Amino acid sequence: MNAHTRNALRLGVNIDHVATIRNARGGAHPDPVRAAQIVAAVGGDGITAHLREDRRHIRDDDLKRIQAATDLPLNLEMAATDEMLSIALRHLPNAACIVPENREERTTEGGLDAAGQHNRLAPIVSRLKDADIRVSLFIEADARQLEAAMRLGADIVEFHTGEYAHAFIDGDAAALEAELRRIADMAALSVKNGIEPHAGHGLTYENVQPIAAIPQLAELNIGHYLIGEAVFTGLEHAVRKMRQLMDEAR
Ligand code: PXP
Repeated sequence: MNAHTRNALRLGVNIDHVATIRNARGGAHPDPVRAAQIVAAVGGDGITAHLREDRRHIRDDDLKRIQAATDLPLNLEMAATDEMLSIALRHLPNAACIVPENREERTTEGGLDAAGQHNRLAPIVSRLKDADIRVSLFIEADARQLEAAMRLGADIVEFHTGEYAHAFIDGDAAALEAELRRIADMAALSVKNGIEPHAGHGLTYENVQPIAAIPQLAELNIGHYLIGEAVFTGLEHAVRKMRQLMDEAR
């Protein structure tokens, strides 16, 4: 078995914020490519990178360098725009995760409105699929959005765990339980309908285990917290510890 098939629940590490720190000084250090190599070396299952319209972290040339530096699958997070579509078709990542993108937001703030934007998304999804790129839609764990993802022919849905993460921070047990149930129910419904369910956003050592315990989930994508922890303990340790927590939860 190789790194891609080793874990029933894959850990995709989002390395955007290594580039955020690099860009703060405008130089080449720290290099997100080095982060990708470390993730590969310590048993991460994939690299996730979000090429934003304003290039605030990952830049175009990072994608090619990341792909050349590791054989881990690349999950390219992208807005549904012609520019990003042509970049995806040029780089041919393993997967493209379509996310909503508002210029002013600090981070992706919610799921894609796959139901309301069917006509805009349909040609982009089909061009990506024609190029053998697995298409993932970042949506809320909501039956209407999941049905829309099915109609669009998405291979994967990634459920937004941001509300779950907020409920955890607020110590709101009822909201936490409701969010978990929503994600678990929609993960089961996805699998029933042949769509691979993933989850991500705001996951930490403290809140990851109830999500990781949802048996249908195939992948978690985790970024900001891991890069933050890496400042204190190193990226190797942070990825290993997250991996261990995920494994313990299964
Ligand atoms: N999944 C998606 C679709 C995202 O947009 C992000 C944030 O870029 C993540 C996962 C990772 O979220 P976080 O950085 O909060 O772990």
